[in-house]
Amino acid sequence: MHGLIFVTWEKYLAERFGEELLHVYRKTIGETPATAPLASRVYNDDTLLAGVHAASKLTGLTTDTLLREAGRYYLMNGLTTHRCAYILTQVRSARELLLAMQGAHLQMRRTPDKLIPPVFGYEMASTNPNELVLIYDSPRHMCSMLWGAIEGAAERYGERVRIAERACMKQGAAACRFELCFFPPAQAPAVRIESPQQMARRRTQQQLANVVLAILPTSNGMTLLELRALLQLRNVSASHTRPIALLEALNHLQHAGLVSSTSNQPGDDLSQRRYWRTPTAGGPLSVPRGHP
Ligand code: HEM
Repeated sequence: MHGLIFVTWEKYLAERFGEELLHVYRKTIGETPATAPLASRVYNDDTLLAGVHAASKLTGLTTDTLLREAGRYYLMNGLTTHRCAYILTQVRSARELLLAMQGAHLQMRRTPDKLIPPVFGYEMASTNPNELVLIYDSPRHMCSMLWGAIEGAAERYGERVRIAERACMKQGAAACRFELCFFPPAQAPAVRIESPQQMARRRTQQQLANVVLAILPTSNGMTLLELRALLQLRNVSASHTRPIALLEALNHLQHAGLVSSTSNQPGDDLSQRRYWRTPTAGGPLSVPRGHP
């Protein structure tokens, strides 16, 4: 399981129950500063499950409640917002985000990191554009986390959502079936409105990410410094070729599955890390609009 899930899980524990509980939790599962999760790495599923069970014992909450709350947090917290910016800037509602995640999660499976994010199925149950049936059949059976993630997706856009899980893998069904109805806000909530400066910054980031994506090779990869040199040769402005700006663009593209790197190979370090374009089926990430 991807490190982003582990890192947001621990951030959730700290924010929900306090640093002291996180400290005891880390001791219980034998985590040390050296083994603390990193958002750029991939970890064993069992490690997360053991952590959820340990947290359940420490907090007295069921594993389902914890996973649901963590799922909501996963979609709402600043780290995901930052890392997933490439995807998030392309969607304008919770329903659009859920529809985009089939392609985006599928694209992440094409990286060499052996990720298996859930590939959602969709059904059209009615002509109401606010309704959606979402099918989840991940062997991880983490539908509680999905429930919370759907709530978090709605909250991101100031919407309410009615969720009914009509079939569940944990009760023997072949897939979980979520019937969803979104209620858009009467007016855009103030907290979601970005300042013109923030919007301009986001647009610039997206443009830089697209330039980086176009320039990366499809095999062997290149280091950050090689990428920088190539961009400088093409007269890309100095502010855009700063290593920090390039790393951010690469990070955003990696979290959309569009760029792969050697970050999970033995002996990896940032100066030697190589980046290349992940193969896509059917061109760049497309965000569906309207009905599936
Ligand atoms: C917005 C950017 C998003 C990114 C970058 C992202 C990325 C990921 C990654 C990397 C994993 C771990 C997969 C693995 O390591 O094998 C994952 C798992 C998961 N994602 Fe997402 N995701 C995003 C949005 C969403 C949304 C909108 C939903 C649903 C509302 C969602 C639902 C889930 C669930 C339920 C899991 C874990 C359960 C399972 O694997 O079956 N994600 N996601």
